[in-house]
Amino acid sequence: MAADNDVLSKDPDWWRQAVIYQIYPRSFADADGDGLGDLKGITSRVPYLASLGIDAVWLSPFYPSELADGGYDVAHYREVDPKLGTLEHFDELIAALHAVGIRMFVDIVPNHSSDQHEWFQAALAAGPGSPERERYIFRKGLGEHGELPPSDWPSHFGPTAWDRLPDGDWYLHLFAPEQPDFNWDHPEVREDFLTTLRFWSDRGVDGFRIDVAHALTKDLTEPLRSKAAFIDFDNPLTGDDVLFDRNEVHDIYRSWREVFNEYDPPRVAVAEAYVRAERRMLYARPDSLGQAFNFDLLVSPWQVETYRTVITDNVLLAEGVGASSTWVLSNHDKVRHASRLALPPGDDGTRWVDSDGHDPEIDRDLGLRRARAATLLMLALPGSSYIYQGEELGLHEVADLPAEALQDPIFKRTGELHKGRDGCRVPLPWTTSGPSFGFGTAAPHLPQPSWFGASSVEAEDGAEGSTLELYRTALRLRRQFATTEAFEWVASSPEVLLFRRGNGWHCITNFGTAAVALPEGTLLVTSGELDDGLLPTDTTAWVAVEEPSATS
Ligand code: BGC
Repeated sequence: MAADNDVLSKDPDWWRQAVIYQIYPRSFADADGDGLGDLKGITSRVPYLASLGIDAVWLSPFYPSELADGGYDVAHYREVDPKLGTLEHFDELIAALHAVGIRMFVDIVPNHSSDQHEWFQAALAAGPGSPERERYIFRKGLGEHGELPPSDWPSHFGPTAWDRLPDGDWYLHLFAPEQPDFNWDHPEVREDFLTTLRFWSDRGVDGFRIDVAHALTKDLTEPLRSKAAFIDFDNPLTGDDVLFDRNEVHDIYRSWREVFNEYDPPRVAVAEAYVRAERRMLYARPDSLGQAFNFDLLVSPWQVETYRTVITDNVLLAEGVGASSTWVLSNHDKVRHASRLALPPGDDGTRWVDSDGHDPEIDRDLGLRRARAATLLMLALPGSSYIYQGEELGLHEVADLPAEALQDPIFKRTGELHKGRDGCRVPLPWTTSGPSFGFGTAAPHLPQPSWFGASSVEAEDGAEGSTLELYRTALRLRRQFATTEAFEWVASSPEVLLFRRGNGWHCITNFGTAAVALPEGTLLVTSGELDDGLLPTDTTAWVAVEEPSATS
């Protein structure tokens, strides 16, 4: 169990400008040599995590799982997957992190469980009409013999969200069939998640990332309303959609907030809610989850006006609810930003991961250059930044994984049309050579490409100009400068973004083609080399500009 710790402050606002490092546990470090990353592997790398200068790690699910969806199919919410370790290993990991001043977020997956969860197994065994089925969403089918799905609702992983059991009942799964959706109208479901939040909070967990936070409550009144397509971002939801972002979902989060506030400092949370920005902020209210993921940069092309708008809007929106914004350039669901930012205009990366059998031509140097510039820009913004394991090495997407290696359910569910998300989940390279580039001793669960060694921790550690050293430098400087949330645009030419944070800290990014002058002051760090003292294209710099003193 968690002991009080002197290294971590009791500041209830510690999260407001935190840098959180996302670990995808199965692909981080493999200590027991089975090809799958594990908790002991993460513990063995705590010195590395400490060397980055992050404030927290977020562990993607490490719970017992059949891995139908990379661990987001949870069979037991208060256990560790035996393939990844034990609860004792978890306690060791959190103690090791806390000892070096790093906090821990865990992932909570409340919309659905695994079909292996004991409640779903009990529901299957108990049969149609049983109380056991009420914790999930079972329905009779339409058509003369109930042979048609109860509604037209689609699954995120395609095509339909309903599957039929041999006993004739259909059940709802907005994701894979192995991920049945809970019925959040059921009091036991509500109660059980409160127990889970307390269980991990009691073990010292500092924060929670809430998976698909906008989907829990659904309009299940009969006849079920039609919804043939997912969220249309051009049509803002109003709180009365059939499946998403219903107003009453916030009742759940208000009850969670009461649990968070039982702790000192209060536990924190961040919502993954894929809804329009204004609606997303409802989840970031102080009586709800407190923060919400802003994925706008994750899906933005490398364009000055887009970045300017995303930044302006999100800083204001967060302020409006008393939260701080979040920023994300890469995660376990999207093409890594070193690759994504080199895609041709108009290509959002989805087509790029289509299984057309080849790695499309991208200029990898251009992608990395932009990725470094984008990262340095992001790390200068007020609020929390989420970085995804491997981006600190400048890793590219592994776009050419062979079909037989793919694990993502998206591949099969789309008739092998889309490869899915495995290309950003390939186990990390720690060493320049050797079996699995230092990930472990066995063949890794997803094959690594030969070019991984050149982007390994060993290759970049201490190497001047490496992406790893850029992240370390930036995070060290950020700690020094980000003492306020002040943010202000400074007038600049249209192809340039220039803003001021408190303490004279300025960030400038050049999206244009011609090199531009830097603001006058002390150059702190740049994402790429200067060109005769000027800031070249696709480059960011931080400059400390002397501010007029109050008395002068
Ligand atoms: C997670 C995905 C997962 C899905 C279903 C998401 O938003 O980030 O990786 O497939 O939720 O749990």
